[in-house]
Amino acid sequence: KPVKIAVANGDGIGPEIMEATLRILNAAGANIEPDYIELGEKVYLSGNTSGVEDSSWEAINTNKVIFKAPITTPQGKGYKSLNVTLRKSLGLFANVRPVQALTPFVPSHFPDMDVVVVRENEEDLYAGIEHRQTQDVYQCLKLITRPGCERIVRYAFEYAKACGRKKVTCMLKDNIMKITDGLFHKVFDEIAIEYPEINSETQIIDIGAARLAAKPENYDVIVTSNLYGDIISDIAAEIGGSVGMCGSANIGKNVAMFEAIHGSAPDIAGKNIANPSGLINAAISMLVHIGQADVGDKIKNAWLKTLEEGYHTADIFREAVSVEKLGTKAFADRVIANLGKK
Ligand code: NAI
Ligand code: MG
Repeated sequence: KPVKIAVANGDGIGPEIMEATLRILNAAGANIEPDYIELGEKVYLSGNTSGVEDSSWEAINTNKVIFKAPITTPQGKGYKSLNVTLRKSLGLFANVRPVQALTPFVPSHFPDMDVVVVRENEEDLYAGIEHRQTQDVYQCLKLITRPGCERIVRYAFEYAKACGRKKVTCMLKDNIMKITDGLFHKVFDEIAIEYPEINSETQIIDIGAARLAAKPENYDVIVTSNLYGDIISDIAAEIGGSVGMCGSANIGKNVAMFEAIHGSAPDIAGKNIANPSGLINAAISMLVHIGQADVGDKIKNAWLKTLEEGYHTADIFREAVSVEKLGTKAFADRVIANLGKK
């Protein structure tokens, strides 16, 4: 029986990269059945400020797995970020974002980079506690809880253990935010002791981000709070090759959501030039999650082979290493043609 999955086509480049990715999943024999849900711009503009169609919740809660293309959050008053809404209402506490350089096929200055950012996904400045206090004073509150810290730090160490990784680095600003980030740091130290086989270290986020940008090969798993994790995962992805390359898993107790790390890229939407790789990688994580890792491996190998052959989308195209610049559709066709090939 196919596994039913709530699928959101998204906005901007969303529908293009989703179409490409679903075609690859199909061709690879993924045993899944999309149950389409409506999220994003259309829903916002219809007057629903949450950005999530009411009827979508049922599909999400029964299927328990969401595969989501990026959406556009309209700028302006009253629109809530639906990403934040989904993560919070579904308890998607961990956002896992792997970045691995694929040099020489995909140029990056950091050929040995292989980093996984484990980002806390529900708390911190993204908890949505933001308001206007007086005429000219606005406030956004940083929420850090002990259970929240324990859950994400433990997740990072368990992830490191399961994936044979050697080190977990915690990045915070606890020299300034001594109470909130201080708690995260304390919990990190407490839990690190339980994993003597895994090295642990802590760095202040500003120098940590700078060192990550200069020498990413020195990092393995990084665990951090929501805002810092959002920022450093984009830095990591971009220096690893392109933000268009990376996927993410949003993990909760009951529901998991898989998506690319980038946004809806309105600047290139509708042109058939977007890189579907971020969503393809998200799909591979999803296949592992639903027990179809063999299909995931098959797609991963075909995707890597396509990149190795020098078939690149515009964002990673470089004269020196690329053979041909392909659009979104043609790139997916190449991946499909490479399925099952050595
Ligand atoms: P963005 O990630 O959409 O784009 C940043 C830059 O990277 C652009 O130049 C874009 O063309 C390029 N880019 C992104 N993905 C690419 C791909 N797959 N292939 C080739 N190039 C790619 O970030 P931006 O412009 O800040 O946000 C645009 C919209 O996306 C906003 O409405 C934002 O709220 C939304 N957004 C949604 C997310 C989600 O649904 N998970 C995450 C981040 C942003
Ligand atoms: Mg982001």
